[in-house]
Amino acid sequence: MTDMIKTNDTAGQAVRLPRHIAIIMDGNGRWATRRGLPRTAGHKAGAETFRRIATYCKNIGIQYLTVYAFSTENWKRSADEVGAIMALLKKYLLEAVDTMERDHIRLHFLGDMSPISPELRALARETDEITEHLSIDDFQANVCLNYGGRDEILRAVRQFAADCAAGERTPEELDDALFSSYLDTRGIPDPDLIIRPSGELRLSNFLLWQCAYSEFYFTDALWPDFDEAELDRAIAAYQKRDRRFGGVKK
Ligand code: FPP
Repeated sequence: MTDMIKTNDTAGQAVRLPRHIAIIMDGNGRWATRRGLPRTAGHKAGAETFRRIATYCKNIGIQYLTVYAFSTENWKRSADEVGAIMALLKKYLLEAVDTMERDHIRLHFLGDMSPISPELRALARETDEITEHLSIDDFQANVCLNYGGRDEILRAVRQFAADCAAGERTPEELDDALFSSYLDTRGIPDPDLIIRPSGELRLSNFLLWQCAYSEFYFTDALWPDFDEAELDRAIAAYQKRDRRFGGVKK
């Protein structure tokens, strides 16, 4: 019973669910290697896990799910592996274009899309247009593609400096909220819970600004093996945390 997600406490009061869950989808390569399969088979299985976990998040009432699909550093991998990940993204994007309106799923990309193929960029624009027609209260999946937390911060700083040079902003007005509005995640609440499977205990350049007060959950399960029960365990752990945001307990 201890790992069940609670929706009500003993007094019948609603217990909070994380509004925004972010996941580093790690362990695809090891999952495949252990089965004697090529690494690309791990990414294929990982993409199916994404579909399954996104559906589950939507069904239990999570509002935002952000996944790390391809980092600014992942270009160092073989051309075969990069090509396989891009092909999977294309497959899921094509599917999303057909189903997101029906299923009320908003889809958004975070990251620098400029080096991404024109075909994938056009598909991402299409999903963005569909997302604009959906309600802000609908479930939203954010896919980080050519994303790096440092790169995102640098792009934001460059744009803010350019706006200052153009006389549209002044350095004095910069605060948390204004800076956040320059990030790829503008309009999206910070993640409440960040999950990293596969036993690695690091952030790997993921949501560096946004994670300031996130709760972290690590598990040894490899991403393709991550299932609904694993997510329940992560949420149950989150529900036991005491979030003080730098304050003291009342
Ligand atoms: C990390 O595991 C995973 C990636 C770099 C790629 C993730 C991409 C997908 C799951 C496919 C497309 C995504 C969507 C949203 C449809 P790893 O390869 O670093 O694993 P390892 O540490 O075991 O080598």
